[in-house]
Formats: sequence, C-alpha cells, structure tokens
Amino acid sequence: MKQIARDSLHTVRLQLNGVERGAPCASRTLLSDFLREGLGATGTHVGCEHGVCGACTVQIDGVAQRSCMTLAVQAEGRRVDTVEGLCAADGPLSDLQAAFQRHHALQCGFCTAGILMSCDDYLRRRPDPTEAEVREMLSGHLCRCTGYTPIVRAVLETAAQRRAATDASAPSESPVTSSTES
Ligand code: FES
Ligand code: FES
Repeated sequence: MKQIARDSLHTVRLQLNGVERGAPCASRTLLSDFLREGLGATGTHVGCEHGVCGACTVQIDGVAQRSCMTLAVQAEGRRVDTVEGLCAADGPLSDLQAAFQRHHALQCGFCTAGILMSCDDYLRRRPDPTEAEVREMLSGHLCRCTGYTPIVRAVLETAAQRRAATDASAPSESPVTSSTES
C-alpha cells in the first residue's frame, strides 16, 4: 500500500457552488478547513469540529453532510455546495433565506449557514413535511439563540410556498367527455 507522509500536500479539485476550484492541502485537512482557508469560502462555519453542532454543514453531491467530519481529499472531483451558493452575490435571497429573514430565524447567525444547507437539501427530498418532521430534521443542529420555533416556521412556510407555486404551474385537467354522450 502506498504510504502517504502525514503532511504531504495534495491538490484537491472540486466544484464549489458550480465553479471548478482547486488548492493544495494536507491529506488530514478537514473539508471545513479546506473550504475556509484553502478556497476562502468562509460562509461555512466551524463550531464543535466533531460532528455535533451542525454549523459546518455543506452539501456534497446534493446531500447535506458535516464538513468537519469529511476530509478534503474525500471531496476530490465532487460537487460541494455551501451557503454562498444559495443565491447570487448581488442577487435576491433564495426563498428559504427570505423566509428566515421574515421569521427572524437567526440572531447571531453562527448556526445559520449549516441549517440553511440542511433545510435546502431536506425540502428537495421532503416537499410536504409536518412540523414534527421539521423539528426532527433540525435536531441535527444546535442553535443557542432562536429557540428553533422561528426556524420551523420559516421552513414550513417555504415548503407551502413551493407547493403552491408547483400547483399553480401544473396544467389544469381538461374535462373528460364520454364518447357515448350526445
Ligand atoms: S463544526 Fe461540524 S458539526 Fe460542529
Ligand atoms: S442564531 Fe445564534 S446560534 Fe443560531
């Protein structure tokens, strides 16, 4: 088996928010540190660094994951999405971010980037969640400020708005007429 020196550097290339990026890092570098220090994507926050708080959550190939529990080298060649990618730098907030703003679902904001990335993934997979399901999903995140209720409201409101938009854009069914009718 190939032996890799502890501090030898590797160039890790990945697609960060849709843009090809790469930088050298040690084989033991965490993805959270690589994003912040190697690629300058400091929107991803680092709290506990052992998988408990959820502040470092990003999406890898569309799935929410703890970047402090992932090595940067494991993200080689994969798509990584962070909070910076939820809306354009000069564009309007995403619907989910706007709902967080409306419902005061953040205060200090330290937990917010990770929670947004989990909620963004969750709502794609579960467009019609109950309040209990949203609370269970949020149990993977620690927030010291909000008491969680405003976050739950923001997620449920976003889900309802997306369903309403989908229903409005669905083609209406034309009435079926029987060939025997005269
Ligand atoms: S910093 Fe990754 S879970 Fe807390
Ligand atoms: S808004 Fe401060 S920790 Fe969540």
